[in-house]
Amino acid sequence: MDTVSPPSLLCRVDEIPDGGATAIEDVAGADGESVIVARQGEEVRAWLNICPHAGRRLDYAPGMFLLKDDLLICAVHGACFNRSNGECVAGPCRGEHLRAVTVEVRDGEVWVASVV
Ligand code: FES
Repeated sequence: MDTVSPPSLLCRVDEIPDGGATAIEDVAGADGESVIVARQGEEVRAWLNICPHAGRRLDYAPGMFLLKDDLLICAVHGACFNRSNGECVAGPCRGEHLRAVTVEVRDGEVWVASVV
């Protein structure tokens, strides 16, 4: 786990559609990578925007993700990831995980704490 020091501001909670996800680009605390942020109410989860199947971004256009029920679906070959733990539950990389970005929500802001 890489701890980010000092913590890096990712975005505001209200920039993420409730029940949806978006991508934040060039995140300093994540080696300049794109980061997926998904929101359910005040709960925010984040992962590197890198599919474990072929290393491609998961979005079909910048910040636009395929979401169905509790799944985040890679737009490239259709791998389906559990939105609560990032595990691929169907598709070409079943059993692998997205790389989690641990975030903290403070005063309506989302901060990167570490990249696992
Ligand atoms: S790159 Fe995501 S499923 Fe192939």
